[in-house]
Amino acid sequence: MIRKTINGQTIMVTGGAGFIGSHLVDRLLAEGAHEVIVVDNMFLGSEDNLAAALKDSRTFLYKDDIEFPTSLEYIFSRHKIHTVFNCATKALNYSFMNPANAFSTNVTGILNLLELQRRGLFETLCHFSTSEVYGSAVYEPMDEMHPKNPTTTYAAGKAAADLAVESYVRMFGLDSYIIRPFNNYGPRQNYKGMLAGIIPITAARILNNISPEIHGSGNQSRDFIHVSDTVDAVFKLYNVMPKGESVNISTDNQISVNELIPRICKEMGYAGEILRKPERAADVECHNACNKKIHNLIDFQLTSFDSGLRDTIAWYKENIKISHGNK
Ligand SMILES: NC(=O)c1ccc[n+]([C@@H]2O[C@H](COP(=O)([O-])OP(=O)(O)OC[C@H]3O[C@@H](n4cnc5c(N)ncnc54)[C@H](O)[C@@H]3O)[C@@H](O)[C@H]2O)c1
Repeated sequence: MIRKTINGQTIMVTGGAGFIGSHLVDRLLAEGAHEVIVVDNMFLGSEDNLAAALKDSRTFLYKDDIEFPTSLEYIFSRHKIHTVFNCATKALNYSFMNPANAFSTNVTGILNLLELQRRGLFETLCHFSTSEVYGSAVYEPMDEMHPKNPTTTYAAGKAAADLAVESYVRMFGLDSYIIRPFNNYGPRQNYKGMLAGIIPITAARILNNISPEIHGSGNQSRDFIHVSDTVDAVFKLYNVMPKGESVNISTDNQISVNELIPRICKEMGYAGEILRKPERAADVECHNACNKKIHNLIDFQLTSFDSGLRDTIAWYKENIKISHGNK
């Protein structure tokens, strides 16, 4: 698969003010993109994540919604976009509060983009799926052929989006493909409120002098990958991913919540209590990924979990605002 190089291209990143999207924006600028067009409705995104990128005159931020076709058409009328990286989504935990909207955001956004691509408004689409589409493992390690058994409406919307991409490629020969990250961690991952993930929540609790929590048995495991490794893989895959295909982006390391929380505590010098809480509904038990495909496609380099965690905790120590009086 030969694609135009990133250097000199105008590229859209939807959800580009979010965690992974903002790191991708930084990388695309560093690789010599002509313009990087960020579309983010700021549901969870933040201008702080784009602080460096927005100092660069090649970055354009549209605080707008990819669920509105006219918003996308307006942006496309202003920039000659070649490639779209579709990172926009509403966080998994949101699907417990507003299940239908979490589903429809994941579906409507991608359909709008595929329609624009079908009409020839841009050339290449890299869609961000998630390991959540697999649900709990039917077999391990989970490769790209693993059945999709979403346990949340977030994941169901993501699975539907994957099917939409695959069917548009079959029907119209579009140059679209799917990358499927497993759990990411690293600087800029949201730590606020109900939508935060386990590493940021734990760091924020400790910094605010609140005991960290383990839900359920703690035996549930995840495959944590540092965001810089994901972005590096996304960049390298751009030149080689066959259209219509998907690829897992993960490490080979399983870590259980029972191991993870004490490691964060140790890194943060916290020796206090760890609270035990009831299991969360629809919590996936295990996500053990198969990495064979990505290793066959690119030179895939991984940061060690120890150094990635250290760098992440250092970022939270600098960036988490302490709420005085919390206990
Ligand atoms: N973080 C992970 O561990 C992880 C794992 C697997 C897959 N992914 C996928 O990677 C992508 C990026 O995830 P993230 O962790 O950076 O999430 P994030 O929530 O930090 O970023 C998503 C961004 O999309 C924006 N957004 C939401 N709805 C929108 C809409 N309708 N229009 C425009 N913008 C909208 C949000 O404001 C946010 O900035 C997502 O597609 C996600 O499913 C993430």
